[in-house]
Formats: sequence, structure tokens, C-alpha cells
Amino acid sequence: MLSSTASLKQSGGTEFKRIVFDEETIAGRVRELGREIAAAYPDGELLVLGLLKGSFIFLSDLVRRIERPLQVDFLVAASYGAETISSGNVRLLYDPETELRGKHILLVEDIVDTGKTLNRLVKLLRAREPRSLEICALLHKHLADHLELEPRFVGFDAPQIFLMGYGLDHAENFRNLPYIASLT
Ligand code: PRP
Repeated sequence: MLSSTASLKQSGGTEFKRIVFDEETIAGRVRELGREIAAAYPDGELLVLGLLKGSFIFLSDLVRRIERPLQVDFLVAASYGAETISSGNVRLLYDPETELRGKHILLVEDIVDTGKTLNRLVKLLRAREPRSLEICALLHKHLADHLELEPRFVGFDAPQIFLMGYGLDHAENFRNLPYIASLT
């Protein structure tokens, strides 16, 4: 999985050192996740909720590999700053328009780091009374002391280093890298 140790540089951008998950590895795992998810939901309405911004590439690849009917919507959460909707200790800048009650909700996250983001969102989403709530995370660092809900679907156990690319940013840059790389 550690496919390159060469120094790499995105044109005009910061230098990064190592590809941690290459395109082929990611695509293969996303295909498997799609199959796992389709098998896990034999019936009922499935709503795939992508947490922006980090999940946008993973989500778009993943839903094309889930071969069953589904709907897609998004969440934009903020830990501070101006907010439009407040519930408990999570603030949503965008609240899904789609009705959540009675549906299978699959929350898609790019990375579980400290787990704080997920812990807040899980409480909020449970209050919407879905039929079920599960998490699909591309990367899981296994750092959290306590997770309200352990991700049922995980792409890769991630090393505890800063990662970027395939949706993950470094100061808002590098989201467009087609692979996941480390800074050091
Ligand atoms: C990142 C990432 C996860 C979250 C994980 O989002 O996309 O959502 O942090 O960290 P945690 O497990 O420690 O809560 P960020 O807030 O950087 O926003 P972004 O998705 O717009 O990049």
C-alpha cells in the first residue's frame, strides 16, 4: 500500500512525500465497499448522506458501486462560526432536504480522526428517527476514546499521520489528488 517513497509535488503546490493509498488500491476497495453495502441493505429506502466537504470524491465513486436503489443528500457541519441550524452541539450549515424518518441512513465520511465530528452528527441524526443509521468511512485512524457509533463499513485503517488527497485537504488544497498522500 505504501506505493512510493519519492518526493512528489502537485504543480504549484506544497511538496508532499509519499503516496499512502494509490488510485488502484482505492478503486478496488471502493468496489468491495459497494458490494458490502448493497448486501447489507436487502430492502427499504436507503439514503446515502455525504458529509462535506471531505467526502465528495469518495461519495461519488462509492454510490456508483452500490448496485441497489438509493438516494443521495449531503450534510455540511461546522464546529464554530456562523450557523443556520443548531441542534445539540452540532451546527449544520446545510441540513439535508430529504426526509430521514423511516429510511436507512448511511453517513459517508472521508476520515475518522478524533471522532468528534461523527459523535456529534450521530446524536443529531438519531433524533431524526431513521429506520437505521450506519457509518461508512473511507479511512479510520482508530484514535477515538469513544465513538457513539463504530463505522460499520471502513475502507482502510489509516496510519496516524496527516493525510490528504481524494477529498481530504491540507489548508483547503490537495483535495483533487486522485490518491491519498502524506505530508511527511
Ligand atoms: C475533517 C474530515 C472529517 C473530520 C474528521 O473535516 O473531513 O469530517 O475532519 O475529524 P474528527 O474525527 O477529528 O472529527 P473538516 O472539519 O476538516 O472539514 P472538511 O470535510 O470540509 O475538510
